Amino acid sequence: MSLSIIILAAGKGARMTSNLPKVLQPLAKKPLLSYVINTAKLLNPNEIIVVVGHQSELIKETFKTEDVIWKIQDQQLGTGHAVLQAIPSLKSEKTIILYGDVPLVEQSDLLKLVEQSGNSLAVMTYIKDVPNGYGRIQRENAEVVSIIEDKDCNDDQRKIKEINTGIMAADTQKLIKWLSKLSNNNSQKEYYLTDIVALATAEGEKVYSHKVLAEITISGVNSKAELVDMERKYQSKLAQTLVSNGAHIIDPNRIDIRGELIVGRDVTIDVGCIFEGDVTLGDNVYIHPYCVLKNCKVKSNSTIESFSYIDSSEIGKENKVGPYARIRPGTVLGNTVHIGNFVEIKNSSIDEFSKVNHLSYIGDSDIGRNVNVGAGTITCNYDGANKHRTTIEDDVFIGSNSQLVAPIKIGKGSTIGAGSTITKDTPDHQLTLSRSKQINITGWKRPSKKK
Ligand code: UD1
Ligand code: CA
Repeated sequence: MSLSIIILAAGKGARMTSNLPKVLQPLAKKPLLSYVINTAKLLNPNEIIVVVGHQSELIKETFKTEDVIWKIQDQQLGTGHAVLQAIPSLKSEKTIILYGDVPLVEQSDLLKLVEQSGNSLAVMTYIKDVPNGYGRIQRENAEVVSIIEDKDCNDDQRKIKEINTGIMAADTQKLIKWLSKLSNNNSQKEYYLTDIVALATAEGEKVYSHKVLAEITISGVNSKAELVDMERKYQSKLAQTLVSNGAHIIDPNRIDIRGELIVGRDVTIDVGCIFEGDVTLGDNVYIHPYCVLKNCKVKSNSTIESFSYIDSSEIGKENKVGPYARIRPGTVLGNTVHIGNFVEIKNSSIDEFSKVNHLSYIGDSDIGRNVNVGAGTITCNYDGANKHRTTIEDDVFIGSNSQLVAPIKIGKGSTIGAGSTITKDTPDHQLTLSRSKQINITGWKRPSKKK
């Protein structure tokens, strides 16, 4: 069976009170529409048609790498009118209609809906205790016969709790026929897509339904309040999935995952952590409170202490990083490395058993194994125009408060005296220092306060 998918995304979303079109509003840092397109792709349709209107250029630009067909609905004359715009591109036997602002619809429900639709029509419904605002599912002898919009309901119809989620699947040729018969003879003077249900019934076609149970999967986003509410529910769902796979998330209400987080066994994540992009945590990794990890990998048995920020880097096994560490893009730490507080590392590699424990800047450097970088060490990697690399070979000891002016190589086993500014390569296994000699001035007196 071949499938077309239409995604309606032309609405203005006035209640968002935002300059950004509704379908570009972020959920876990990704635009709402991206979720719908991704779910649509999972169904392997022949074509995905997105109907846009308000700020269509910006939406098209945002998704320019996606293989979708764009249709413009200049005036928003109703959901039926929106679907009409897609007709010229419908080339498959079946059509599913989705909404750009209903991001969490599930693939499994859509498969059931298509299956249900037979050679007619199926609507996705939900039982809502307070159904205000939604179209109601009207049934006769248990069969769906029509959908009545909230604004067109009489008092009895208003009491119906089974609502129209808006999502439908239909035989494409019949859908096209029904759409051609729509009128806007209703309280909103709109072409209602929902009217095709009564048209099908009138033709003696059976209209099927699929009732979904999880409200979040059919919820739309119309306001900032609904957006933030959905964000919390979505985050909670992601956290619960991690917990059920064995992660120890200290408080599932205080974690944010904005991308994909993969965890090994016995991982612990304390409160307030944010994960962005692709993050992988190995077995027994412990993330302490309030860390931000973006596009990074932390190998097994490592601990990230509180308030650390790790971006586009790789942390080896048995590391201890932080608290207050900043690991910038291009950093690769070997096994059993220690990075302490107020240490910034950028585009550098540090081999096993090495330590940078306090107040240092390591940029564009390659540090060997078993190196101790003293407190306050700075690699001077920038001459005002170009960046240069620093190489520190195995078994080096850098005394505190040293500056290493790149390009430079600190030879194997050498020691740098504290407080040195090193501008030339140092020989292996020797002590190098550059500070002036300590002197005593006899008879010197501290100034005293004038009376
Ligand atoms: C629609 C349904 C209602 C259902 C509800 C679920 C109709 C007539 N009513 O009502 O039964 O309970 O959704 O949320 O279908 N859109 C366009 N072009 C238009 C009009 C709408 O692209 O001309 C898009 C909007 O961007 C939005 C979606 O269609 O994403 C739904 O439109 P909206 O006006 O919010 O529909 P409702 O009145 O809520
Ligand atoms: Ca409307």
